[in-house]
Amino acid sequence: MLTEFLTWQLKKMKIILTGASRGIGAATIKELAKNGNQDILAIARNEERLAKLKAETEATFPGSKVHLLVADLSKIDEKTLRAKIEATIGGVDLLINNAGYLINKPFSETSLEDWRQVFEINVFAVAFLTKTLLPYLQQSGNAHVLNISSMGGFQGSSKFPGLSAYSSSKAALANLTECLAEELQDFNIKVNCLAIGAVQTEMLAQAFPGYKAPLEAEEMASFFAYFALQGHRFFNGKVLPVSVSTP
Ligand SMILES: NC(=O)c1ccc[n+]([C@@H]2O[C@H](COP(=O)([O-])OP(=O)(O)OC[C@H]3O[C@@H](n4cnc5c(N)ncnc54)[C@H](OP(=O)(O)O)[C@@H]3O)[C@@H](O)[C@H]2O)c1
Repeated sequence: MLTEFLTWQLKKMKIILTGASRGIGAATIKELAKNGNQDILAIARNEERLAKLKAETEATFPGSKVHLLVADLSKIDEKTLRAKIEATIGGVDLLINNAGYLINKPFSETSLEDWRQVFEINVFAVAFLTKTLLPYLQQSGNAHVLNISSMGGFQGSSKFPGLSAYSSSKAALANLTECLAEELQDFNIKVNCLAIGAVQTEMLAQAFPGYKAPLEAEEMASFFAYFALQGHRFFNGKVLPVSVSTP
């Protein structure tokens, strides 16, 4: 058992992370690359930021390789995704569904389109991506799907005006995590969710203008990387609050 685990640890990991162009996602790519020889496919829409991230990460951690998929998660199709994986990392051991979209607007002013956009990225894209990647995750034999939710979507936590679509989408993501963990356990795919508190990023500035978060993106990223690589040894189907405060 221990030998199997050590062999797994030495294996080059095939990783997909969404929302890689900035904030916690970009910092997590660097943390993962630092942790060993990793093969990472980074997904986001902003090509310039992705290219900069790739150049910086590969220069600092030459053992790791960062491949890029410039794509809008609400429009991505199975064929493009599979072709990109075949041409780059060739499999998936770890999927980090980190991309997030937030609309800060009083509930009474929200449109159906606002709700659709938020759920499209925070829930539907996660379900679609995970489903499309199932054959690869199954082949891994020890795969981990890590969903990034928010304390706003954690049952019983403080709620804030203007974030009804965002927070409820993150609650849906947490529940989806529990459902998938149950359904995918026979394929040896573990699914967990981190419901995080405030971290200083562009998204936080949009949600809480002027608020100073207790954590920088790099600090949360080091926890993401650790949990993504190790958490599925200890947890499956868990929604874990990761917060020292909520703003
Ligand atoms: N920061 C916080 O305090 C906080 C608190 C709770 C939860 N979270 C969650 O933590 C995760 C990371 O947050 P963050 O603060 O680092 O956010 P951020 O700085 O706003 O970054 C969001 C990322 O998602 C990507 N993204 C958004 N829409 C996309 C789309 N349609 N297609 C592809 N990529 C898309 C963005 O890339 P492009 O724009 O280049 O596409 C960007 O890389 C999110 O899931 C967020 O909800 C954050």
